Amino acid sequence: TWTPENIIDEQVARIREQVGDKEVICGLSGGVDSAVAAALVHRAVGDQLTCVFVDHGLLRAGEAEQVEKDYVAATGIKLKVVDAADRFLGALAGVTDPEQKRKIIGREFIRVFEVAAREIASHGDVEFLVQGTLYPDVVESGGGPGTANIKSHHNVGGLPEDLKFALVEPLRALFKDEVRTLGLQLGLPEAMVWRHPFPGPGLAIRIIGAVDRERLDVLRRADFIARQELSAAGLDRDVWQFPVVLLADVRSVGVQGDGRSYGHPVVLRPVSSEDAMTAEWSRLPYDVIARISTRITNEVAEVNRVVLDVTSKPPGTIEWE
Ligand code: XMP
Repeated sequence: TWTPENIIDEQVARIREQVGDKEVICGLSGGVDSAVAAALVHRAVGDQLTCVFVDHGLLRAGEAEQVEKDYVAATGIKLKVVDAADRFLGALAGVTDPEQKRKIIGREFIRVFEVAAREIASHGDVEFLVQGTLYPDVVESGGGPGTANIKSHHNVGGLPEDLKFALVEPLRALFKDEVRTLGLQLGLPEAMVWRHPFPGPGLAIRIIGAVDRERLDVLRRADFIARQELSAAGLDRDVWQFPVVLLADVRSVGVQGDGRSYGHPVVLRPVSSEDAMTAEWSRLPYDVIARISTRITNEVAEVNRVVLDVTSKPPGTIEWE
């Protein structure tokens, strides 16, 4: 029978068997999946685990600081923080194709983990990499029976072919709601367990067009306002996820301040879902949408239009890329 205790015991035993007395690293993203995967591995092999948090420059406002403080405080896990923004943004410069972005990001993550692993290793090599891969990530990357590749999740279809790590993926058969239950059982704080999903490739796949620092900055400011107003309205738990997408190559005419503007649209993409395999667009109250729209166009000068995505999944996916 499925109980969180059973799953934890089973996975802990498996991890111990796979890893033995070797050292392990875990890529921590700040999200639920990698947090729970790390907590499981920590329970199994304790200080043989070092978590690596890669700041790829594609995070939302405040995220890096949050991981550095909260996760270590909650778990006591060893954490190494790597500032890899130049590396990722350099590799992504000029790239507009969604799958290409995903492959580049998947590859760069591994390259950064390789460097970190060499620095962490106290003897020999670190052979094992923990990832918080879930069942839907595998299916949507074309890894399931009879499935098409919808998009290459950075941690599955986006991995480089010359991957030298053996993967430890204790959540690979699970859905998000199960992972959240495990997280609570493992003693992770509610705020961490109930965080909205955020994709590993980060804001790179929420900028439609090429990614650069200026565009990231615009999107970060708009995204922060949307998240702040959703929370202020007490609606965090009513939506599964609330991407904000910047249509960086689109411009439209508006009137802002003293005159004409020619700015970019952002798309609000609040969705409701059970497992991210299907989703409905969330029917957020109009006054919340209105507040977000007014604040974004007032506070983010580069954005002069806010639009609402009213597409379910299918036919849309949750993320735009
Ligand atoms: P889609 O856009 O396929 O997204 O409907 C389904 C869920 O997966 C998240 N997502 C990702 N998560 N790496 C991740 O860690 C990825 O490459 C990736 N792509 C999509 C997305 O945010 C949603 O929760």
